[in-house]
Parts: sequence; C-alpha cells; structure tokens
Amino acid sequence: MEERLVTGEAISEDGGEFSLRPTSLAQYIGQEKVKENLRIFIEAAKLRKETLDHVLLYGPPGLGKTTLASIIANEMGVNIRTTSGPTIERQGDLAAILTSLEPGDVLFIDEIHRLHRSVEEVLYPAMEDFCLDIVIGQGETVRSLRIDLPPFTLIGATTRAGFLSAPLRDRFGVLNRLEYYTEKELMLIVKRTAELFSVEIEDEAAKELAKRARGTPRIANRLLRRVRDFAQVEGDGKITLAITKSSLDKLQVDGIGLDQIDNKIITWMITRFNGGPVGLDTIASSIGEEPQTIEEVYEPYLLQIGFIQRTPRGRIVTPLAYRHFNLEVPE
Ligand SMILES: Nc1ncnc2c1ncn2[C@@H]1O[C@H](COP(=O)(O)OP(=O)(O)OP(=O)(O)O)[C@@H](O)[C@H]1O
Ligand SMILES: [Mg+2]
Repeated sequence: MEERLVTGEAISEDGGEFSLRPTSLAQYIGQEKVKENLRIFIEAAKLRKETLDHVLLYGPPGLGKTTLASIIANEMGVNIRTTSGPTIERQGDLAAILTSLEPGDVLFIDEIHRLHRSVEEVLYPAMEDFCLDIVIGQGETVRSLRIDLPPFTLIGATTRAGFLSAPLRDRFGVLNRLEYYTEKELMLIVKRTAELFSVEIEDEAAKELAKRARGTPRIANRLLRRVRDFAQVEGDGKITLAITKSSLDKLQVDGIGLDQIDNKIITWMITRFNGGPVGLDTIASSIGEEPQTIEEVYEPYLLQIGFIQRTPRGRIVTPLAYRHFNLEVPE
C-alpha cells in the first residue's frame, strides 16, 4: 500500500518507539501566544487552588493539540483521561466517565465536534456547574436527579471549530487556535527529534526537512523517520542535505512539501476545470478521496500557502499554484 505522508491520523505516531511528545510547556516548541496565555492561566488556577477553566484547542491535524492537552495536565499536576467524540455513544457512557474523575482531573475529548448531540447535552451542566442531570424511571414515575461531580477541566480538541454547536463553544473559557509552524520552529523540532533518535543531522538537512513539512510537526517527524532509513541504508547513518533531498524526492514530496495528492488536486482542477471554481465533492470524487479528508487534511495547507481560494461557487486555483507547477496562467 502506498504510504501517505500527509494524514489526519495520529496512529502509530511514534512508530512503536518511545514517545516524541514533549511533556512540559518549556519543551513545546512554537505556538508562543498560546503557551504564554496557558502559562498564566495555569499559574493563576494553581495559586487559587482551583481547576483550570475548560480549554478548546483547534486547528489543522498534527499541530500538537493532543500533545498540548497532556502538557496542560502535567503542568497542573493532575491526571488526564482521554476519549474522543465519536466513541462516546450514549449519555450513560459520558456520565460514567465524568463520575469516575478525581477532583481536578483533565478530561480530554478529541474530535469534540463529533459528539452526538444528546451526549453533548450532558456536558452543559457538567461544564457549567459540575453536576449531572439524569432522568430515571418511566411514565408516571419519571423524575430527574442531580448528581454532583468532582470539579474537572475539559479540554476539547477539534480540527473543525466551525462544526461545534454554539452552546458548547460558549462553555469553554479558554479558546486556542494552533497555527502552522514556521520553518525555524520546525527546524528545532526536527533537531530535537533527531537527538531523541540519537542520529546526527546536518543543519542544512534539518532546514530542508522543515521546508517540506507543511508547517506541521507530525509531518516533520514522519519525514525525518523516512530520511533516517535512507541515511542508514544508503549512507553511514548521518543525515546529510544530499541524502535528505534525494530521499524526499523519492518519497515524491516536492520542494515545498506538496505530495502526490496535492499535486493531483491542483492539476485536476487546472486541466479539467480550467482552474475552477470547482465544488469540494467534485474534487474529492475525481481523485478518489473523501470530501472530509480533502477539507480537513489537504485543503487547509493549500489555502494557507495561497494555492487555492474558496469562493461561494467553489474552489479556485491561484496564479501562484500555476507558477509552482510551471503551468501557464490563463488570461
Ligand atoms: N510544539 C511541538 N514541539 C515538538 N513536537 C511537537 C509539537 N507539537 C507536536 N509535536 C509532535 O508532533 C506530533 C503530533 O502532535 P499531536 O498528535 O499532538 O497533534 P494533534 O494536533 O493532536 O493532531 P490531530 O489533530 O491529528 O489529533 C507529536 O507526536 C509530537 O511529537
Ligand atoms: Mg490529536
């Protein structure tokens, strides 16, 4: 099977090896504004001996939301319970999780935009008043019961903040948007990971990887792992600029980090639709991907670097993209 370099999935994140995840705010590279704010809110909550207010983390996949959630729990000195929106099927499942928390714990709900609406309703009083309203009995004996919960901090993560219902979004006190990382930050991340791998890497090689990592730490680490393989088999283990370039070319990751699928998306839009506007579903079906994958994994970066634009009638390719692919910009 073709290995995808750009994915939304965190599975086998660390390739079965030890964890690459930083464990403190100090080790977490980049996202300076987010870190600065969190540092203050964490400090203040600790001084008051209160739980931290509920935190929503949003932004494209692989930018470090899950990592940041566990760092927050670490910095607060509490446990973290991790679950995800689609896996909580019934109200009772969430109630069971909430009642089993220790005071002060962090409950991390990944993909929180995919919570069932009925489950979401259980969260409202839990977030606001640390209690559960449950309905017991049936017919004439039905009554509602209020159960107190231990105070906790909910950390929600989502790639789609726009998909969150307003009542849920409004119950988060701290909203943090994670941004794509700069080349410099990615270079530091690559070097840090190389050090954890005990592999030597040239500065220029780290820079090249950073350039091709689409602003995303997960992709930087994934590319580094592949390049390390080439360096080991075809070189003497040291990651040089030459090996980095040749292996990334073999992996069909171009000079700015676009892969075969980005390439397909753009060239299809140009050759078949004259650069657009093209609807999301049309793009997806023409290249055999789910519209959701296009929208959550591929499109954000193409929008970020200004290769495509969204218009009310669909997506269009910009002259910048034509030039990158050496194609003539239409009149
Ligand atoms: N600021 C950072 N500094 C160093 N490494 C980082 C940083 N952010 C993320 N990473 C690395 O990138 C990987 C991906 O991060 P993480 O799984 O937290 O992303 P995510 O935003 O939760 O992604 P998803 O939306 O797919 O769940 C982690 O394994 C971690 O090693
Ligand atoms: Mg995650």
